[in-house]
Amino acid sequence: MSRVHLITHPLVQHKLTILRDKSTGPKDFRDLLEEVSMLMAYEVTRDMPLEDLEVETPICKMTGKVIAGRQVGIVPILRAGLGMVNGVLKLIPAAKVGHIGVYRDPDTLQPVEYYCKLPVDVEERQVIILDPMLATGGSASAAIQFVKERNVNSIKFMCLLAAPEGIELLQKEHPDVDIFTAAIDERLNDHGYIVPGLGDAGDRLFGTK
Ligand code: PRP
Ligand code: URA
Repeated sequence: MSRVHLITHPLVQHKLTILRDKSTGPKDFRDLLEEVSMLMAYEVTRDMPLEDLEVETPICKMTGKVIAGRQVGIVPILRAGLGMVNGVLKLIPAAKVGHIGVYRDPDTLQPVEYYCKLPVDVEERQVIILDPMLATGGSASAAIQFVKERNVNSIKFMCLLAAPEGIELLQKEHPDVDIFTAAIDERLNDHGYIVPGLGDAGDRLFGTK
């Protein structure tokens, strides 16, 4: 069963509350989402393996640690996942970036896929899928499926807010994918929005409403 990692760091929680506030406009929303994503990436990468590297300090030789093994791929779900990319890249600048376009049909709440472009060597990478909102879980599940179809066997899902319904769906459909979130909210409303949530993440990020 996928594990759910709740990121409770005070800086993350502080910024999340300002993101939720409806009076926060697109510029501040973008800045805060980037900052929170960088802080969350610190936790998401906590289990990265290390290997020894010998270096020479100005004083003497010593053996330090560097990150070993597979490189990282980050895959935002369009549109709102785009707002998390730069924050993650600040910590993992060598990561390659893929894109998956999925939107939720407002009537059926079912995911509609319209774009997928992943790094050519994606199967050799640890992939972190980014989307601020895990609501019904349909979009995240479809995106994870796309990545799995490219033979990737190490996938993590990172979001800002998760609804219990979305967590349940991912745990059922993708039990091998760990979920990292800054909050688990109460429920979904009749329109599939997270309550209390932060509204429509894409619209708030890009000022489209
Ligand atoms: C939002 C959000 C997620 C999805 C979550 O995208 O960014 O991708 O909804 O909902 P789900 O868990 O019920 O699938 P939206 O469909 O609004 O598309 P957009 O980012 O292009 O506006
Ligand atoms: N998508 C959003 O942007 N917000 C929600 O609350 C649910 C889905």
